Amino acid sequence: MAESPRHPFLQGLSKHRGAPPTVVVIFGASGDLTARKLIPAVYNLSVDGLLPADFYLVGYGRKAIPDDEFRTLASEAIKEFSRRELNEADWARIAAHTTYVAGGYDDKAAFDRLAAHIAGIEKNIGREVQTLFYISTPPSVFGPILQNLGASGLAGKYVGKGHHAKVIIEKPFGRDLASALELNATIRGVFAEHQVYRIDHYLGKETVQDLLVQRFANAIFEPLWNRNFIESVQITVAEEVGVGTRGGYYEQSGCLRDMIQNHTMQLLALTAMEPPVAYEAEAIRDEKVKVLKAIQPLNLGAGGDVARAQYVAGMIAGKAVPGYLEEEGIAPNSATETYAAIRLSINNWRWQGVPFYLRSGKRMARRVSEIAINFRRPPGTLFAESDGFNLAANTLSFQIQPDEGLSLILNTKIPGLETRTQPVKMSFRYSTTFGSNTPEAYERLVLDAMIGDGTLFIRGDEAETSWKLYTPVLEAWAAAGREGMDTYAAGSWGPPGGDALLARKGHLWRQP
Ligand code: BG6
Repeated sequence: MAESPRHPFLQGLSKHRGAPPTVVVIFGASGDLTARKLIPAVYNLSVDGLLPADFYLVGYGRKAIPDDEFRTLASEAIKEFSRRELNEADWARIAAHTTYVAGGYDDKAAFDRLAAHIAGIEKNIGREVQTLFYISTPPSVFGPILQNLGASGLAGKYVGKGHHAKVIIEKPFGRDLASALELNATIRGVFAEHQVYRIDHYLGKETVQDLLVQRFANAIFEPLWNRNFIESVQITVAEEVGVGTRGGYYEQSGCLRDMIQNHTMQLLALTAMEPPVAYEAEAIRDEKVKVLKAIQPLNLGAGGDVARAQYVAGMIAGKAVPGYLEEEGIAPNSATETYAAIRLSINNWRWQGVPFYLRSGKRMARRVSEIAINFRRPPGTLFAESDGFNLAANTLSFQIQPDEGLSLILNTKIPGLETRTQPVKMSFRYSTTFGSNTPEAYERLVLDAMIGDGTLFIRGDEAETSWKLYTPVLEAWAAAGREGMDTYAAGSWGPPGGDALLARKGHLWRQP
């Protein structure tokens, strides 16, 4: 694998990051995710020289689409959504290996045709290649796809020959504990766990991976990373966008399922887990599961650990926007939450008594995802706020997006002839230090799955543990309907109920 001079992030990348010969089959090939993320990811991996020469892309979907037309759709997707402009020569290399198979998801004969299609590719090139199935369809057909992959022999094709068929499963991974257990059982009936890659695209984000490096490659953090020094942890994943054209999906989902149960919980697990024994998939996932299991059941009563709300009309970036109930595809009496905030208690030696606050919402003041570690205040003997000193709690914040980086708030003396203090922020920004054009999360994840590295994917027991925590909340909210639903103006930082969750312990949400 040659290193491309075009990409500074590839400098020094070890050679084993190249993938073996692979056929990637995308189920749901004419869908939104394929156009926005998957095809551009494959394209950029190719430009970076990270795809093997024997790389083949097969689109699969219900719609009959000729190969040529699929290739045109793919090149249009790259033009519209890729972080790099489409270069015809780069694209031609992939296009020559891109085909499409039309078929139903519950049609065993169509899967046999797919198997024959893959066998045809292998015959042409005179060697076996691993197959990576990417299930990017609505969840209603996850089951039939998995079963047909089993029935057509595609799932077990290479077992025992040193490489395996692999499957990537997109979210949502179930909608509660029972459905997640059922999906895991279906998967396990067909694939072994090491063949399965459950995606949470937050794990592919640069700064999320950096969290592990910051925590475990710097000796200064570990001694402070516990209940003796940390007052609270706040994890925010705020979006400016509303539900847009995804009303149909969102009505069935809501913020807890869409963002909290998966993305924010992944951030929490990486922040709170114990140091793993090795930088490798099973060791890291073992620690994540352990910390998730230490989270106490949530108090759902009044004044408890959860808050939910819907946005009403407001202003975003100077523009008036409608409320959730006025959006396209939303029931006028919808009880779907667009904001959720949770207070979690982790009952272990490291964290007992330290609240972990999670919040996420659509149509909030600003798009920002961050993890803020709030340290305890120093004893106020020398510089007490009551004596007029302007002090802040030390806060270490991992800015996941936008403006990726890390910052630390410290109290400092204002220059001058008397002692006055002011909090200042020390910042590290990725774009300043390393330049921009960071690989997209999906590039890293597709490459890792091809290589067989499951570190940045969710193990079955991880998904189940998280659903176990949140299923009672979903049930309680479903039973309550709109009763108790708070509101917040679009463009604000959320509802009063979200603030009250923190106020109960004397805390405030940070304004990121
Ligand atoms: C997806 C959710 O998983 O994440 C969307 O389904 C959300 O509702 C998106 O907008 C946010 O991802 P990102 O990468 O833009 O923060």
